[in-house]
Amino acid sequence: MRKQFFIFGIIILFLSAIIAYYYKYSIFFPLTILAIIAIGFANSIQTKHAILRNFPVLGYFRYLFEMIAPELQQYFIERSTDGKPFSRNQRSLAYQRAKNIDSTTPFGTQLNLNQSSYEGIKHSIFPTVVNEELPRVLVGGQDCTQPYLASLLNISAMSFGSLSENAIVALNKGAQKGKFYHNTGEGGLTEFHLQGGDVTWQIGTGYFGCRDDRGGFDGGKFAEKANLPEVKMIEIKLSQGAKPGHGGVLPAAKNTEQIAKIRGVQPHTTILSPPSHSAFSDTKGLVEFIAQLRLLSNGKPIGFKLCIGETREFEMICQEMITQNCFPDFITVDGAEGGTGAAPLEFADGVGMPFEPALIFVNKTLARFEIRDKIRVICSGKIISGYSILRAVALGADMCNSARGFMFSLGCIQALRCNNNQCPTGVATQDKMLMKGLVVTDKSERVYHFHKNTLHAANELLAAAGKNNFAEVDINIFMRGDEFAHLSDLYFPDNLKSVRKH
Ligand SMILES: Cc1cc2nc3c(=O)[nH]c(=O)nc-3n(C[C@H](O)[C@H](O)[C@H](O)COP(=O)(O)O)c2cc1C
Repeated sequence: MRKQFFIFGIIILFLSAIIAYYYKYSIFFPLTILAIIAIGFANSIQTKHAILRNFPVLGYFRYLFEMIAPELQQYFIERSTDGKPFSRNQRSLAYQRAKNIDSTTPFGTQLNLNQSSYEGIKHSIFPTVVNEELPRVLVGGQDCTQPYLASLLNISAMSFGSLSENAIVALNKGAQKGKFYHNTGEGGLTEFHLQGGDVTWQIGTGYFGCRDDRGGFDGGKFAEKANLPEVKMIEIKLSQGAKPGHGGVLPAAKNTEQIAKIRGVQPHTTILSPPSHSAFSDTKGLVEFIAQLRLLSNGKPIGFKLCIGETREFEMICQEMITQNCFPDFITVDGAEGGTGAAPLEFADGVGMPFEPALIFVNKTLARFEIRDKIRVICSGKIISGYSILRAVALGADMCNSARGFMFSLGCIQALRCNNNQCPTGVATQDKMLMKGLVVTDKSERVYHFHKNTLHAANELLAAAGKNNFAEVDINIFMRGDEFAHLSDLYFPDNLKSVRKH
């Protein structure tokens, strides 16, 4: 191809010079062609990129198409029911609810319900009245002196650094208006989180905001922030679903001077939080750390977040809680399908337990240890609709967090650019120009409406299932396609027994 390029290039250059001369075109025409040939020549002798070496100019199209592949996929190829991680239908629902416009669907479902992957709620033929009040859950166990009445749906952990300043402010203001909490993520508690909304302060392995000179935990700095009135709960991050066992990643492109100052690290370098905590190294230490944070925060709810991996470790934590008679006020279970700003693909695709088995496991294990009533279970993993909330409660959650759902409410278009600072909507970038597109006053309203309308949809489903409150919901209201596709004889042999009188 290189040979052809030079032959054609020289012919076109020659012709363009003649045309320019005879027809009095601008000299820029042949000069442009000359510039293209020069670039082509440079490409043909470079040794780094095989495609450009072989196709000195046409090769650029490959890079162009690769760059806009997510957009091409989304605009021209994707159907309403596909699109990953969230389908077009799911994203549209979040946008409509955030904009507070009609979110009904026309003509009927686009899903194939007659297959084993079908999931649904068993509705009652005696529905209850839809509660207009949005559900709340009290968090605070036996040692908590400042319990918190939380919303059933809240903003999951996403750091300032991963998200832009405007995004964080809009989330916090939306949380303030809707009276739900905003989890800071492991990047620390910043002025952008203190806009009036309730805050769950997350403490990761980097201890950003409560970090001593050697990167360890500083109790004094922690106490200062933990006692701020906005901080309602404190969450120790053990792991997250998208990269369990890896630790946080802040790509160099997003590590600005401002963020580096907040976190106490070198700007413009990739910051890897260690995979494990230095404040403790075993289950005993973890439970003692919970007690220490509770003391330093003057009795605020303390919990931890994890993605389930080795199940025995979780059982050992439960046993240790009983031994020390010290329990977290909440445990946040993150499914392996969870989102992230940046993660190695191996970790995102192949480590950790998915949402459904993890939630069932945690719920059952706490019940077996007879400590379920002492601890609230919070869950995260693709919570985006009223249905996903009810499903999570049916599987054993008391409350839900959503990260990407709230990102959609901010205008995220799933461009899949959170890791390279080029998020086109200004949500997951530190580029000031891109950030300008995200107008806080407008987007905070959307955050507020997304929360309100999604919870209202959950209330409607609850009523359809004939229940009066979320505490009445259990796994029995949930059905699977495979129950009736393959197991009907097993599941319904005596279905008259419970209602027949004689
Ligand atoms: C951009 C982004 C940043 C995140 N940052 C954190 C973080 O700092 N700490 C954490 O525990 N989880 C973090 N997460 C994970 C979320 O809090 C959540 O657990 C996960 O995305 C599952 O929820 P979702 O399916 O609603 O997104 C992040 C997720 C995203 C998308």
